[in-house]
Amino acid sequence: MRTKLVVGNWKMNGNLTQNQELLNAIITGTRELRDVVCAVCVPYPYLQAVQLVLKDTHITWGAQNVSQFDFGAYTGEVAAEMLLDFACRYVIVGHSERRSLFGEDNHTVAEKFKKTQSVGLIPILCVGETLAQREIGETERVIDEQLDAVIKLTGINSLAQSVIAYEPVWAIGTGRTATPAQAQSVHAFIRSKLAKQNTEVAASVQILYGGSVKSNNASDLFAMPDIDGGLIGGASLIAGEFISICSAV
Ligand code: PGA
Repeated sequence: MRTKLVVGNWKMNGNLTQNQELLNAIITGTRELRDVVCAVCVPYPYLQAVQLVLKDTHITWGAQNVSQFDFGAYTGEVAAEMLLDFACRYVIVGHSERRSLFGEDNHTVAEKFKKTQSVGLIPILCVGETLAQREIGETERVIDEQLDAVIKLTGINSLAQSVIAYEPVWAIGTGRTATPAQAQSVHAFIRSKLAKQNTEVAASVQILYGGSVKSNNASDLFAMPDIDGGLIGGASLIAGEFISICSAV
């Protein structure tokens, strides 16, 4: 059986004081939860402070991006190896904001996925269509291409050591969530696509849903057979919301 996973994506938010308060509340509020793994992906400058607060707790942590390159002359970038110094477990790769605002294409995302795994970290690979793509019936084609770029570079078996996050772009930060049925249908599509190449990988990979998940819609989404948890943006910054979402599992 797949473990449920709820990951907070803080994006470019927070400061030392707020982070500490948020994490203390989350640690306390999720302590009794048994059937869910909770994690936060935080801005790079806070990784060390977050590590100090979360080590020896049940909450895991990670980064929101990583360079596809090895150490070297890449001003402003962060190498995967550096993340090991802060005991990260996860790295979000290919978030739609990285794709649309910072020009990351499918190949770059696949390289970041590969680099993340090469140092032993777990990539959370984000895929998803825009509203325009959905409206002309291209959802599956877009996701196919996003997944194929990774499979081509790293092979189908690599997906077993990863997490996939289906995040329809039109649902991110908009308050407009995919219905449980809409999300389930794409999750099932992803799983069946992987099953054509490897049934074990397809059965074991965690597929999260992301896009305006809140405490009032999380349990219906998480009840779907192919939805293994969530990638939570805005609501992960509010302790009560994030705790309720983790509890909804
Ligand atoms: P949201 O963001 O929950 O604020 O819609 C989700 C995400 O971008 O991962």
